[in-house]
Amino acid sequence: MQEIQRLATISLAQVLGGKNLDHALTDARGQAKGQLTDHQRASLQDVGYGVLRHHTEIERVLQQLFTKRKPDPPLDSLLMVAAYQLLHTRVAHHAVVSHAVEVAALLGGSGAKGFVNGVLRNLLRQREMLLQYAHATPEGRFSHPKWWIDKVMAQYPERWEAMLNEAQTHPPMTLRVNRRNSSREQYQARLKLAGIESAPVGVEGLVLKEPVNIRLLPGFDHGDVSVQDASAQYAVEFFALHPNQRVLDACAAPGGKTGHILERGKALELLALDKDSGRIKKTEANLRRLNVMAQCVATDAGDLKSWWDGRPFDRVLLDAPCSGSGVVRRHPDIKWLRRPEDIPALVFAQERLLEALWQVVQRGGRLVYATCSIFREENQGQAEAFLQKHTDARQLSIDDPIFHQGQIYPDYDHDGFFYAIFQKV
Ligand SMILES: C[S@@+](CC[C@H](N)C(=O)[O-])C[C@H]1O[C@@H](n2cnc3c(N)ncnc32)[C@H](O)[C@@H]1O
Repeated sequence: MQEIQRLATISLAQVLGGKNLDHALTDARGQAKGQLTDHQRASLQDVGYGVLRHHTEIERVLQQLFTKRKPDPPLDSLLMVAAYQLLHTRVAHHAVVSHAVEVAALLGGSGAKGFVNGVLRNLLRQREMLLQYAHATPEGRFSHPKWWIDKVMAQYPERWEAMLNEAQTHPPMTLRVNRRNSSREQYQARLKLAGIESAPVGVEGLVLKEPVNIRLLPGFDHGDVSVQDASAQYAVEFFALHPNQRVLDACAAPGGKTGHILERGKALELLALDKDSGRIKKTEANLRRLNVMAQCVATDAGDLKSWWDGRPFDRVLLDAPCSGSGVVRRHPDIKWLRRPEDIPALVFAQERLLEALWQVVQRGGRLVYATCSIFREENQGQAEAFLQKHTDARQLSIDDPIFHQGQIYPDYDHDGFFYAIFQKV
């Protein structure tokens, strides 16, 4: 566990310095002394994610225990990691403290040992009182930045607390069954035979009772199944595909929805764009696993001159770059890396893409606009502004009760997502 604490400390310090969590964890794994076991990798992942989920709460708890100013990095990160383990995991307390003391010696010398020992033992002694104080403000209770809490409160006065609470939970692992290869029921039976329990969600999703390594999923390498949240599986429903249609997936990488469209459609001609060439390569690899074909191009979808041959598309998916405010439970670093000024910039980028891509939609065709955000300016606000500008656009209603004016509220089975379906008249 000492090694996990050391590596989690390195990764936390990197995220707080502005690095993406997955990259920080990859870097930290690279600094491991020896090969990590699957169990150690999972523990590192759990601590890395957990400490960011509960960051403000932990920070407020620790603040009360520092008699002078807070310690310098990386000792402050080590204390955060150990405090997370004491407050939110079942790891034996004595093991958390004694290992943290050893890591402190490695990081900060012998003086650091006594300091870390004292802080963590006091935390254990005064736990309830410390938590009560930490939870006295919404920032401490929900571990989100103040600007974010204020926005959710203003936009969802009835459900802001539930939404922020959801963002602190562990998401389930959800699968999308490839209906070309089997029915959901058949695949669920295969999972059961492999000892993996699941429950249906949405149209072709299965939520696993416990997450598993993808290597254990039957037929994964042959494309029988993909990992995809239930909310992300709606895009293809809204396409109402017909055989031989020309389809554009404008912000496609890493190809989750591209693969779904190709699994479901017949003889489609699909063009997948993404401005990130590294992510386009991942898209190609994902499509190969599913044994489906698309033309994949790394380019700015908003710059029509760079990629459009002038032939219109029957279906266009704009799964737009967004704040990611609906998927914070899966990416808890988002809430610490995002800045309030990013939101207008994202709204501008989304509008630019919508404007450009509307031009390539065939009359009678559809553009599906999607975000994994809960912020209204990226969602209903964007859709309303678009409709005002385009008299040739009609928004189609979504009847499924999971949707509230296009918005899926985050809950256990669903990431927060938004969809608007525009038809060109
Ligand atoms: C929400 S992600 C797409 C997820 C993908 N549709 C899936 O289901 O796997 C948004 C993507 O938009 C891409 N992107 C951002 N701006 C773009 C632009 N101007 N043109 C093309 N792609 C863009 C990003 O690189 C990112 O991969």
